Amino acid sequence: MEVCVVGTGYVGLVAGTCFADSGRDVVCVDKDAAKIEALNAGKVPIYEPGLAELVARNRAEGRLTFTTDLAAGVQKSKLVFIAVGTPQGDDGRADKRFVLEVARGIGRTMNGYKIIVDKSTVPVGTAEEVRAAVRSETSHPFDVVSNPEFLKEGDAIQDFMKPDRVVIGTDKPEVAEVIKELYAPFVRTDKPILVMDIPSAEMTKYAANALLATKISFMNEIARVCERVGADVTAVRKGIGSDSRIGPHFLFPGLGYGGSCFPKDVQAVIRTGADHGVEMEILDAVERVNQSQRQHFIDKVMRHFGNDLSGRTLAVWGLSFKPRTDDMRMAPSVTIIEAFLQAGAIVRAHDPEAMPEAKRFFGDRVVFCDTNYAAIEGADAVVIVTEWNEFRRPDFERVRASLKQPVIFDGRNLYNKDEMQALGFSYHSIGR
Ligand SMILES: NC(=O)c1ccc[n+]([C@@H]2O[C@H](COP(=O)([O-])OP(=O)(O)OC[C@H]3O[C@@H](n4cnc5c(N)ncnc54)[C@H](O)[C@@H]3O)[C@@H](O)[C@H]2O)c1
Repeated sequence: MEVCVVGTGYVGLVAGTCFADSGRDVVCVDKDAAKIEALNAGKVPIYEPGLAELVARNRAEGRLTFTTDLAAGVQKSKLVFIAVGTPQGDDGRADKRFVLEVARGIGRTMNGYKIIVDKSTVPVGTAEEVRAAVRSETSHPFDVVSNPEFLKEGDAIQDFMKPDRVVIGTDKPEVAEVIKELYAPFVRTDKPILVMDIPSAEMTKYAANALLATKISFMNEIARVCERVGADVTAVRKGIGSDSRIGPHFLFPGLGYGGSCFPKDVQAVIRTGADHGVEMEILDAVERVNQSQRQHFIDKVMRHFGNDLSGRTLAVWGLSFKPRTDDMRMAPSVTIIEAFLQAGAIVRAHDPEAMPEAKRFFGDRVVFCDTNYAAIEGADAVVIVTEWNEFRRPDFERVRASLKQPVIFDGRNLYNKDEMQALGFSYHSIGR
C-alpha cells in the first residue's frame, strides 16, 4: 500500500520519511517546486536532527520519492495524508485554505477509493469540510480520517518513531484498522492507539497544545512572583514537579512559548470557543502572560543599562524558537532583538542552525557571528535566548575576558546563580 503525503514541511517530511523507514512506499508532494527540487537533489530544506540521514537512506533504497505532481502521488496511493500548514488567519482563526485546496485537488485527481487523512492541526468540523470539498470534485468513494500529529521540532524523528500515543478520528472501524496497521511498527512498546470520533480527535490536538502553553505561562507567572518575594523558581519547580499529580515536564520558566504551533493553536481554540459561545478565560490569560513575559525580560536588560541602549553592543546566543531546530516562526528572539535595535543597541548574534533563517528576518540589521565566542567580542552583555546545548557550559573565563563588562542575561536559567556570582558576573535570570 503506497502512502502519499501532501505538504512536505516539518510534519509532512518527517511523517513521510518515517513511514518509508517502516517499509512503506511513500511519495511526498509539495507545491513548492524549489523545496522538491532540493529534496530530489539530496538536500533537506529544514534542520531536524537525524532527518537528513533518514531521508537519504530511504531515497537510496527507493521507498521515498518527492514530486510537485499531486495527481501522480494521489493516483498510486490508497492513503493520502494532508500535512499542509494551517497558519493563523487575520481574525485569529486557523486558516484552512491550504487544507481545503489540497482536498479539492485530491478530489479532482483521484482514480478510485482513497482514505484521506488529515494530519494538519485543524478546528473541529474541518474533516466535514474536507469531505465536502473532495465530494464536490469526484464521484469515487473515499473516507476522511483525523490523525493529528503531536511531534515536537528538535525531537521530531524520535517523537514520530516512538509516539506517546496515536490518535485516530473516524466513524468506521474498518478504516481505523487500516490506519492502525500503518502505525503498528511505531507502537511496539504498547503505546496506545486511541480510536475516537472525528470531532474529539480534532479537539484533542488543540487541547494538548493549549494545556502545554498553559503550563508555560503558569510557570512564567510564578517566576515573576518568585523574583519579588525572594524565592528561587528552580527550587519551586523541583518542589512541585516531584508531585506525581503535577509531573516534572514543561515547568521551566523562560521567555514564553513561540514557534509555529502554540501561538496559533492557542488563538484558534480561543476563536473556536468564541464561535460557540464559550469564553476561554484561561487561554486569554495564557496568551497575555506569554506576550508580557518577553517584555518582562526586555525590561530587565533595559533597566540594567539605565533604559538607554544607544552605543551598547549586546551579544545574543540563540535565535531559533527552541533548540535543535532552525525554525524562527514566532521566536522570542525576534521580539527581543527588535526591542534592542529600537533602543539603539548593536546586536551580535549566534545560533548553531537558525542563522540563515534569521537573516531573512533581520537582514543586515544584526551582525551574525560564526561562533558564540565571536558574538561576545567587545559586547556589553551576553543575552541567552535559546537553550542550545553548546551554551550550557561555556568557558566562563573566556566569556568574562571577551565581554566589555561581565554581564549575563539568561532567559533560560542555564547557569547556577551562586557560581556566576563567584565568577564575578552580574547575572540576571528568570524567577531567581
Ligand atoms: N511543526 C510542528 O512542530 C507541528 C507539530 C504538530 C502539528 N503541526 C501541524 O502540522 C501542519 C503542518 O505544519 P508544518 O510545520 O509542517 O508546516 P510547514 O509550513 O513546515 O509545511 C507546510 C508545507 O505545505 C506545503 N503546501 C501548502 N499548500 C500546499 C498545496 N496546496 N499543495 C502541496 N503542498 C502545499 C507548503 O509548501 C509547505 O512546504 C500544521 O497544521 C501544523 O499546525 C505542526
